[in-house]
Amino acid sequence: MRKWLIATAAFAVFLTPGLAAAQSPIAIKFSHVVANDTPKGKGALKFKELAEKYTDGKVHVEVYANSSLYKDKEEIEALQLGSVQMLAPSTAKFAPLGAKEFEALDLPWLFKDDATYDKAMKGPVGKWLFQRLEPKGITGLAYWDNGFHMTSANRPLINPSDFQGLKIRISGSKIADRYFRDVGSIPQIMAFSEVYQALQTGVVDGCENTPSNYLTQKFYEVQKHITVSYHAHLQYAVIVNSKFWGGLPVDIRVQLEKAMAEATDYTNSIAQKENEDALSAIKASGKTELHYLTDAQKAAWQKAMAPTYAWAKGRVGQEVLDLLGKELDIKMN
Ligand code: LMR
Repeated sequence: MRKWLIATAAFAVFLTPGLAAAQSPIAIKFSHVVANDTPKGKGALKFKELAEKYTDGKVHVEVYANSSLYKDKEEIEALQLGSVQMLAPSTAKFAPLGAKEFEALDLPWLFKDDATYDKAMKGPVGKWLFQRLEPKGITGLAYWDNGFHMTSANRPLINPSDFQGLKIRISGSKIADRYFRDVGSIPQIMAFSEVYQALQTGVVDGCENTPSNYLTQKFYEVQKHITVSYHAHLQYAVIVNSKFWGGLPVDIRVQLEKAMAEATDYTNSIAQKENEDALSAIKASGKTELHYLTDAQKAAWQKAMAPTYAWAKGRVGQEVLDLLGKELDIKMN
């Protein structure tokens, strides 16, 4: 009898592999392309800390920074395949997912400041954009801020004509492609991990990015002039594989949602200061010259890039433009 009981118990464990699996932590691979010492890098580590704490170690988050696991395009494919569970790509990189609507957020001078951006993303447009991901098997969890783009080259970029003929690296958005073409430059999509070398060797002449990325990737060391133009905004969407997320035990998912909400507040609260500090460090390095646009120069850039707004409708569709226009109280085209 005793023997039979032991055998039955052993058989039951054998039949329910979930039981054994439940003992070992659930692994979340969180891959991203920037340095740990940036708003997104710190946000990912904060999520890890909170997720592991709130689930009592039932979840283990492995953060892979600096493209150490996947580069831009690969990471999105890996998410769909389930090789990685969580990413936070810039929303400029969502077209390969078939969600071009996100590129509307790249329109030049769309958000007047960080507070305006933040309010807009917490409104209906943020949710509407996440709904575009669901049919692709991807769930949007949060938007993380990384401030505004500067732009740079080895010559000062003060007037729109200064861009003429320059090869400019962009991260993926056709909206950015378009506004750089509006000023006569030649945009080129390139993975983030390749930008430093491309600038150094002259494969491209210039780029755009936020101060925290210029500093941590050392772009400022290979660009003689940076214009603090703040012409477009850089934001991330934290995304997960829907099958993975939906398959988590409910109590675990609730704790992870709490961890994500807190990590999001944290990331968004540090983004502005992180970028200000990064800009100060770049200035202090003396390795590049910073330029600030006068109101008239800024107006000239805005005028030169204005055709992008009319063009955007064919790319991102009217619906997202209307949602943004309503949220920001502006006429889009
Ligand atoms: C870029 O590729 O320029 C950025 O999207 C990198 C990042 O994630 O901040």
